Amino acid sequence: VIVVLLGPPGAGKGTQAVRLARALDLEHVSTGDLFRDHLRRRTDLGEAAESYMRAGDLVPDSIVTAMVRERVADGTRFVLDGFPRTLAQAQELESFAPVDAAVLITVPDDVLRARLTGRRVCAVGGHVYHVTEHPPREAGVCDVDGSLLIQREDDTEETVSRRLEVYREQTRPLRDYYALDSRLLEIDGTGSVETVARRMAAALGGIPALPS
Ligand code: AP5
Repeated sequence: VIVVLLGPPGAGKGTQAVRLARALDLEHVSTGDLFRDHLRRRTDLGEAAESYMRAGDLVPDSIVTAMVRERVADGTRFVLDGFPRTLAQAQELESFAPVDAAVLITVPDDVLRARLTGRRVCAVGGHVYHVTEHPPREAGVCDVDGSLLIQREDDTEETVSRRLEVYREQTRPLRDYYALDSRLLEIDGTGSVETVARRMAAALGGIPALPS
């Protein structure tokens, strides 16, 4: 089973992917998290991705696709968060892991900007918070592992604008790609995390490969 989560930066892909993976016993693969892990470990892959990520641009298709191919090679139950992001990535994915459903989470730009500039992440485990919408119990400290919460380098006003532009130009066309053979499920990503999770569960309820 391969479920893909599509949507602009800040739509809640990561937040929902964690819940969905738990609910349906899927493995969660986030290309953004994989890159950030490589960056922390200063690997060649991390260094290759760094300048693109910092600018809010996409990492070249060949690098991302090779990384995902390796990650999903020996499994069959995945929720992919942040991949594919271009038509070329989507076509390549079909050749090694055909997608059962692509869920597009839509959220207006002003809400996305507020979510991204208020996001804080755990420096060690990557757990995600928001200063007002989903604050930790103790300000600046991760509830799960007690690590320091930091702001992602690409969550500044300027880089967020660039990421939204890149999304519209390069990723948004995937909506039509998955709609063409009825694999697209579009859900409203506004409202609470629980409300969005319920909408997603309802949308995925009709997919035969998934338990209801
Ligand atoms: P990536 O890490 O994937 O960033 P993104 O797509 O921009 O997505 P985000 O992580 O910013 O947002 P999200 O939708 O996961 O939202 P979240 O749940 O965190 O990619 C980073 C970079 O890596 C890219 O720019 C690119 O350079 C590179 N990259 C990655 N994949 C690539 C690919 N396939 N090809 C090429 N390059 C690639 O939520 C956001 C905030 O909102 C949080 O604070 C959260 O708590 C809050 N929130 C979530 N849901 C709600 C809700 N319902 N109500 C209120 N607040 C909410």
